[in-house]
Amino acid sequence: MNNSTPAIIFENLEKSFGCLQVLKGISGEVYRQEVVAIIGPSGCGKSTLLRCFNYLETISGGRLTVNGIDLSHPDLERKKLRQLRTQVGMVFQQFNLFPHLTVLENLILAPCQVLGKTRKESIQLAGFYLEKVGLFDKASAYPQQLSGGQKQRVAIARSLCMNPQIMLFDEPTSALDPELVGEVLQVMQQLAAEGMTMVVVTHEMQFAREVANRVIFMDKGTIAEQGPAHEVLTNPQSDRLRAFLSRLQREWQTSTN
Ligand SMILES: Nc1ncnc2c1ncn2[C@@H]1O[C@H](COP(=O)(O)OP(=O)(O)OP(=O)(O)O)[C@@H](O)[C@H]1O
Ligand SMILES: [Mg+2]
Repeated sequence: MNNSTPAIIFENLEKSFGCLQVLKGISGEVYRQEVVAIIGPSGCGKSTLLRCFNYLETISGGRLTVNGIDLSHPDLERKKLRQLRTQVGMVFQQFNLFPHLTVLENLILAPCQVLGKTRKESIQLAGFYLEKVGLFDKASAYPQQLSGGQKQRVAIARSLCMNPQIMLFDEPTSALDPELVGEVLQVMQQLAAEGMTMVVVTHEMQFAREVANRVIFMDKGTIAEQGPAHEVLTNPQSDRLRAFLSRLQREWQTSTN
């Protein structure tokens, strides 16, 4: 594996839950230092695809390789799984912070327990990333004392403490009040500018247009259209994508009126 090998490669990837086929044999790749936005209607399989990328779901068919680790089989060795979990960070819509731990304790837990760092090293690391997301002064606060935007920035800092090579984001701003969305997108934009490989499921079309290199539009478990973000979003080729974008635009206009 070298730098030109894609960070994520999937070929004819299928995922079914019982008799429901959610991903219908899709293929693609994410290159290193690339930011890929995944868009598409509710239920089309965006979260499922993202969850396959860090083995929260096992695939039902096809092939999947993430950071050189073959995830095509349902019997991944524990050692490889641990490797994957340190190399791939994931940020969810609902933050998933531990409510009974302070911000600092949330951040140092995995570096101490998974990476085997000392408490002192972990605190230093946590301080660095809290500073990066602009929340150094919140180290001793509890999650319930933070706004949604602050919680999500803590969740991002917590992921970064593992020094991941790939970051997956599943609608990181959709649980936030509109006025808090910007601060989270700004942190993500900075990460992208620093060269992080990112896959972002999002409904934020402006973010996708400005920050993503490529957009994948999914519909009913397939990739219906993909290409450079600017082209796909300003000049959609398929009727399905045109309809999806104009529906989003209408919803956005209604919510801001
Ligand atoms: N663990 C599961 N068991 C059974 N069905 C599931 C499971 N997870 C997802 N599904 C189904 O798979 C389909 C795709 O779900 P998924 O969460 O990937 O969609 P999505 O594109 O992320 O939608 P949204 O935009 O609403 O988040 C849905 O029909 C969903 O009900
Ligand atoms: Mg989803």
